[in-house]
Amino acid sequence: MYCEKVPVAEIADAVGTPFYVYSYRTFERHFRVFNDAFKKIPHITCYSCKANESSAILRMTARFGGGADIVSGGELYKALHAGIPANRIVFSGAGKTGEELRSAIRAKILMINIESEGELQAVSRLARTLKRDVPVSIRVNPEIDPRTHPYITTGLKKNKFGVLWEDAQRLYREIKKERFLAPVGISSHIGSQILELTPFVEAVRSLKSMIRQLKGDGITVRMVDIGGGLGITYKDELPPHPEEYAGVMEKELEGMGLMLILEPGRVLVGNSGVFITKLLYIKKIPGKTFYIVDGAMNDLVRPAFYGAYHEIMPVKKGRGDTIKVDIVGPVCESGDFFAKDRPIASVKDGELLAVLGAGAYGFSMSSNYNARRRVAEVLVKDREFYVIRKRETLRDLTRGESVPPFLKA
Ligand code: LLP
Repeated sequence: MYCEKVPVAEIADAVGTPFYVYSYRTFERHFRVFNDAFKKIPHITCYSCKANESSAILRMTARFGGGADIVSGGELYKALHAGIPANRIVFSGAGKTGEELRSAIRAKILMINIESEGELQAVSRLARTLKRDVPVSIRVNPEIDPRTHPYITTGLKKNKFGVLWEDAQRLYREIKKERFLAPVGISSHIGSQILELTPFVEAVRSLKSMIRQLKGDGITVRMVDIGGGLGITYKDELPPHPEEYAGVMEKELEGMGLMLILEPGRVLVGNSGVFITKLLYIKKIPGKTFYIVDGAMNDLVRPAFYGAYHEIMPVKKGRGDTIKVDIVGPVCESGDFFAKDRPIASVKDGELLAVLGAGAYGFSMSSNYNARRRVAEVLVKDREFYVIRKRETLRDLTRGESVPPFLKA
């Protein structure tokens, strides 16, 4: 298996296992295909940092002209640090702290997507104290079922995200009265890994009708933020092509003079990266074979957390015979698996396996559970590879900790 022109095994020799490897060219292509699809309408592609907030990925985004969708002060820091212009950054999230809001206002980001009445009050207070004009939008909950995994739907009535329309309308009126707040946009995000266009069309239609009602109240927004959520192929899914997605958006927004804000994450980075792990042991019990690998749920939690499917294949072509195995990690949880009863070309211990589609919500959701060091990340461009994050050292595992004096004697 190669990443661009580099044999994956060569990277493994250099950095050890497990690790993530990303392709520059793939990310670039995904970004451009997505962004260019919308070229007929004014838009900003605000890459959703949470999918993968490695500084090298953020820098690539900045270079390709993208903005950022952030959900924390940490992501704001990283996005700015990577050179993403503040006026291309939107801030979502149900629980922004005063400190996070203050730094976003100071940085002069494009807009803050407000998700509750309490947050609106916090933003108003800060705007008055700082005497800064703050561009805001309300993230409305369009009450749409995107028909995806329940953990990643966000626009249903029962979800914690966004504000129901009847409340949002009232909040817009309050914003209008505030001297330092400017209602510049309206936003929504209905979920993730969405495989049909209909939910997006329904969402943008309801945003359009809300925009019309706001006009009636004398409030003119100029930006409509449709969120992220376009799905990708992990197994045999057939997600809409970005051009189809752009086509329907274009049709819906024609003549409205709005700036479209997009917050794609997974669709840009998901299939730009794979996770490489080494087979440690083959363990057989009656009726089952386990491939025990050196990567685990702390490194890539999607299978354990969502029962997500990731294609897994040997880095070196298998010898032909296919066997059915459970691919599991060393973490002390039965949920620590990458695949169950999965047919795979049989390999020997010591060989490498690639877990595909791991570029989004892979490293960014990783942890130190079981005092496992967070893994290395590598970026490949053409014939070269670059370590963009070193594997953590043992010392990193105690960094920031301290032991009270009475325990030291
Ligand atoms: N905008 C907002 C406000 C979001 O909450 C999200 C994702 C996105 C944009 C980007 O969505 P995307 O284009 O990547 O679908 N950890 C889960 C996915 C959680 C998504 C959370 N919000 C997973 O591994 O499937």
